[in-house]
Amino acid sequence: MTAGDHPPKPFLIRHAAGDGGRLNAPSAQRNQAPIVEALARALADAGHGATPLRALEIASGTGQHAAAFAAAFPAIRWQPSDIDPLALASIAAWRADAGLSNLAEPIRLDLLEPDWTSAIGAPLDLMVAINLLHISPWQVTQSFLAGAKALLAPGGIAFVYGCFIRDGDWVSASNRAFDESLRSRDPSWGARDTADVTAEAVRHGLIVRDIVVMPANNTAMVFALQG
Ligand SMILES: C[S@@+](CC[C@H](N)C(=O)[O-])C[C@H]1O[C@@H](n2cnc3c(N)ncnc32)[C@H](O)[C@@H]1O
Repeated sequence: MTAGDHPPKPFLIRHAAGDGGRLNAPSAQRNQAPIVEALARALADAGHGATPLRALEIASGTGQHAAAFAAAFPAIRWQPSDIDPLALASIAAWRADAGLSNLAEPIRLDLLEPDWTSAIGAPLDLMVAINLLHISPWQVTQSFLAGAKALLAPGGIAFVYGCFIRDGDWVSASNRAFDESLRSRDPSWGARDTADVTAEAVRHGLIVRDIVVMPANNTAMVFALQG
């Protein structure tokens, strides 16, 4: 089976339909503020101030994060995306509700499709994927990193967040149990080890600029272009 043949999987967010088609994931609500804070720090560390930036979010899910990010970073033109039609409709509903001029219409992107990067016109300053790498096959991690290398402008960064094994350390028993439940749903899913992701990033011409310990046993990784 080639990467492009991989069937789409339903995502694991337990959501309830919100007003106007907005889906609501309680976890997205909970982790929003710390992620905004970590992203702001990563952008500042990369030397990005209030100048206009272009961001692509992969796997935007309900669209809650996209609306929050666009509100928190008014200088960033935020492009949300997902593979799932239900998610795309929810992102559009969150966008309509937010009424923010820097939040673009969601686009369909599947990281298992070859050449998915060709749909993205301009070089990017920021690429983001929240809770994607452990709920997708390893090829998605590889594709995200290859996409970052292809799409980031000099000085740009990529940011991922989720349940990681930190260099061989499971971090918590609950992360290990979560990993088991993911693999029982799909053996190709599961928590990634930051060491493996780092090695893969280097293979794709990226460096890991930061590994951030996040609340609730989560981890964020920040990548930049080598050199
Ligand atoms: C657990 S959800 C995370 C959603 C959101 N980022 C959040 O944290 O609330 C995983 C998302 O990844 C998307 N996804 C799964 N496989 C994908 C792929 N191959 N390409 C792009 N998105 C994918 C799913 O549709 C889903 O919206």
